[in-house]
Amino acid sequence: MTAKLVHDVMIKVVRNYNMSMILTSHWPEVIENLTDKAILLENGEVVLEGNPLEVSAVFMNNACMVKQEKNIIVGEPIIKVRDLSKRYISVDRGVVRAGDKISFDVREGEIFGLVGVSGAGKTTTSKILMGILPPTSGEVEVRVGDEWVDMRQLGVENKGRATKYMGFLHQEYGLYTYSSVIDNLTESISLDLPFELGVRKALMTLKAAGFEENKAKAILPKMADEMSEGERHRIALAQVLIKEPNIIIMDEPTGTMDPITKMSVTTSILKTRDELGETFVIVSHDMDFVNEICDRVALMRDGKIVDIGEPKNVLFQVTEEEKIKIHSVKPSTLEEQNKGRSNKL
Ligand SMILES: Nc1ncnc2c1ncn2[C@@H]1O[C@H](COP(=O)(O)OP(=O)(O)O)[C@@H](O)[C@H]1O
Ligand SMILES: [Mg+2]
Repeated sequence: MTAKLVHDVMIKVVRNYNMSMILTSHWPEVIENLTDKAILLENGEVVLEGNPLEVSAVFMNNACMVKQEKNIIVGEPIIKVRDLSKRYISVDRGVVRAGDKISFDVREGEIFGLVGVSGAGKTTTSKILMGILPPTSGEVEVRVGDEWVDMRQLGVENKGRATKYMGFLHQEYGLYTYSSVIDNLTESISLDLPFELGVRKALMTLKAAGFEENKAKAILPKMADEMSEGERHRIALAQVLIKEPNIIIMDEPTGTMDPITKMSVTTSILKTRDELGETFVIVSHDMDFVNEICDRVALMRDGKIVDIGEPKNVLFQVTEEEKIKIHSVKPSTLEEQNKGRSNKL
């Protein structure tokens, strides 16, 4: 509703003061309601120019291709969480219940979302799934073949049996800043690939992470710190995908992505899942993305799971207040990211 007010004011100002206005947007309604003429840009080039309704229709037609590819083929449970709790003791806040008796299953081949406002306990839960963080109580198991692996037990003989088939994209990801993109990618696969093969694999993976073929080729020799924040994020995603894990856990993968890149990442995640049957756990505050990509989502509040189900049945319960909180970047996140950055210098 705020957007509508702003739009009305913009139209009034332009009409009353005889002004010209140029605006950029990825929202079709904005283009349709506010503009007299529109252009569609792709890779820095004008691909369509003219009537806003027509331009927006073509734009949305590209965007809608995603939905049709979603083809649910889920199997037996592959991650099992029972009565999981995680308490932090904080000096100023006392006991923090980041996970409070949560239980859920993720099925093989499923794209499962964990959503909720900042501080709901999403990152904590995802790290426990990966065995990075020990829970205070409760059980977490990951299935490898027919065998259930207890993710609370450290060591290669224990959780290590599962983690070698798992990939984790951290919310505060990091690349080797003084290495090239290709080195960043191939160093994360321990196999000694011939260089040519490594390049081919890196290109395929960068494409899956939303880079165009030519762009992917161009950035291979570049240093990681020559990339923009958003590009680094997608290279970090590629670094996870190149290991071809069976289970991929991603913490806020779309944090820095523009809508078109997000769409191409959505499409390629759905495509690889269809082809290879991987299981994804996606932690996100991005409701559109989650709705588009997830088969099921769990909504978290104050460390608890309040509902699990199909996105359309769960996401409507997100309150207006939560949406506002979800969309505002919490200062601590920025601080953490800056801290991470200066550490690497
Ligand atoms: N290491 C820690 N020490 C104390 N409190 C923590 C720690 N990590 C997270 N928390 C707290 O636990 C709660 C859940 O955090 P987190 O899992 O990061 O949530 P989300 O990813 O949903 O934003 C928050 O209140 C957060 O401040
Ligand atoms: Mg988080």
